[in-house]
Amino acid sequence: LKPYVLAIDGPAGAGKSATARGVAKRLGLLHVDSGAMYRAAAWIAVTAGADLDSEVEVLRAVEGVRFEATEEGFLANGRLVGPEIRSADAGEAASRVAVHPGIRRQLVAIQRSLARPPGIVMEGRDIGTVVFPKADLKIFLSASVEVRAHRRFLELESHGEAADLAAIESMIRDRDRRDESRAQSPLLPAGDAIRLDTSELTLEEEVALVGRWAELGRRGPGPTTIFYWFGSRFVKVFSRTMLKFRIEGLDHVPRTGPLIAACNHISFWDPPLVGSNFPRVLHFVAKAELFRNKVFGAMLRGYNSIPIQRGLRARSGLLGAEEVLNEGGAVLIFPEGTRNKSGVLMPPRAGIGRLAAVTRTPVLPIRISGSNQIRRSLRRQTLVRIVIGTPMTPPIRADLDRAVENAFAVRVMEAIAALPGL
Ligand code: DC
Repeated sequence: LKPYVLAIDGPAGAGKSATARGVAKRLGLLHVDSGAMYRAAAWIAVTAGADLDSEVEVLRAVEGVRFEATEEGFLANGRLVGPEIRSADAGEAASRVAVHPGIRRQLVAIQRSLARPPGIVMEGRDIGTVVFPKADLKIFLSASVEVRAHRRFLELESHGEAADLAAIESMIRDRDRRDESRAQSPLLPAGDAIRLDTSELTLEEEVALVGRWAELGRRGPGPTTIFYWFGSRFVKVFSRTMLKFRIEGLDHVPRTGPLIAACNHISFWDPPLVGSNFPRVLHFVAKAELFRNKVFGAMLRGYNSIPIQRGLRARSGLLGAEEVLNEGGAVLIFPEGTRNKSGVLMPPRAGIGRLAAVTRTPVLPIRISGSNQIRRSLRRQTLVRIVIGTPMTPPIRADLDRAVENAFAVRVMEAIAALPGL
């Protein structure tokens, strides 16, 4: 059994610890705070009188110290590392120690060894990029500097520490700068990370949202049909051998969890080309009329197609797609609604905004070009190119706000248009 790995990264005060703890509890997974390891290492180095900016001295201080992660917290040489590492100074020291490659190497090795079934929720700065580049789900939390400073202020106060809001704010700015600009594993979101700005969210909302994505992701997409399996392999081989073909951004696709792939539409080749080359099983939406013919309808269904009713209120028309997303699957949607053979991008319909908002599903923008010239591509005169962008966070509190949903649909089309074409 493979452990499920959820990576939560982000800057100080973005809400990582509380979110990670809440989600781990909800899913029954081990929660590991990797920052605590850097804090513990720094604390040991300080206690030993080492110069924190000297890698040699820090390494000497922590050499031979045994770190273990348990449900209760971190043990250094069998002793629980306590509240001494939670002060603002300890965080500052950790950030200085964390620039040393040798220290990072040691702690990363320990972090990797902690992934055991049923799974782990690890929070930090480089979990999705360096520690677990193949994590099943990656979340990158952020929040405005002001919000983060206020949270840290309350946290320090609750530990009975005197705190000065302005000082914390400037310390956070410095720490961000150092964490983002260091040469080794700088603080950056992984390409397939879902970014979540928590400035306006409550902790309950964060845990509910991330918990939903992880819970559905862990359940897996379910079985697929033999027909789909063979069909998509056949088209994949065809596109890669017979066509002049290229796909980019495959590492932007979250490995698990509900996902809406949103692609421009210029040819009837788009669904099979995108579907078969996509690293996850996709479900397609198709006009209900296409299912009228019994044989063709059965084939479409066998190929993961969901009938949608157009003209109906967007919501009820997309119920089939909602069902797939609510089970943790991935759906391919063409936000423009219809195919435009000329290759020009058109404004979106409301459907995708609604679907993303109602099911709170991240959207992956995809741009396809050249598929409207398949014959030329067979003769190697035109490139068929698929470019996958990075995940977009859905509107979160907009269940019934049409304006927000429409604005999101427009942003999705803009993101598709911003991807390179031919
Ligand atoms: O999350 P935290 O505030 O406890 O982290 C303290 C410092 O440790 C942070 O400023 C940078 C460093 N750190 C890191 O470099 N990589 C991690 N995975 C976690 C923390």
